Amino acid sequence: METSHDPAAAASAAPQTPPPRRRFFEVVTYILGAIAATLVGVPLVGYVVWPRKRRVQWVSLGSIEQFPVDQTRLVEFDNPLRQPWDGIVAHTSVYVRQAGSQPDAEHRFMVLAVNCAHLGCPVEWFPESGLFMCPCHGGVYHADGERASGPPPRGLFHCLWRVKGGKLEVQAPHYPTLYDTLQQPV
Ligand code: FES
Repeated sequence: METSHDPAAAASAAPQTPPPRRRFFEVVTYILGAIAATLVGVPLVGYVVWPRKRRVQWVSLGSIEQFPVDQTRLVEFDNPLRQPWDGIVAHTSVYVRQAGSQPDAEHRFMVLAVNCAHLGCPVEWFPESGLFMCPCHGGVYHADGERASGPPPRGLFHCLWRVKGGKLEVQAPHYPTLYDTLQQPV
């Protein structure tokens, strides 16, 4: 009886198990891939879910006595809607004007976001001319926040406000856009 040994045939017939080192690198690759997917995916999911979960928070701007009638005041504060990585961006401002000509409490104050309605640059108030001007592209707004000229497609965004315990409070403003204004319920 004739017997023969073919090493190639024997190798192909044997079950293929990857060497331990290759298997190790496969597992490491899967783990690193999962970590990378989590790092990228969690912020994306948070971005989509966050607007629906945004909580209403009120920020005190101080006693109503500190806002003289018919004068526009810039009030700065740290936005409580901030994220830990926001840095200086979380430091925001609003323009406050108490209207002496408004008899009803509902329209007593006007609180305007500082962000230009064009691309969001902070506008500056010029009492001499009674205008808000944007340093970025020359947008101009009237004292009541309505658009006067330049590229902005609309007036300045109005913030929601209330008077509580003698203090003027503003609803913590998110960054306003044409599709997500400060006046929509949050
Ligand atoms: Fe204000 Fe462009 S950002 S005019």
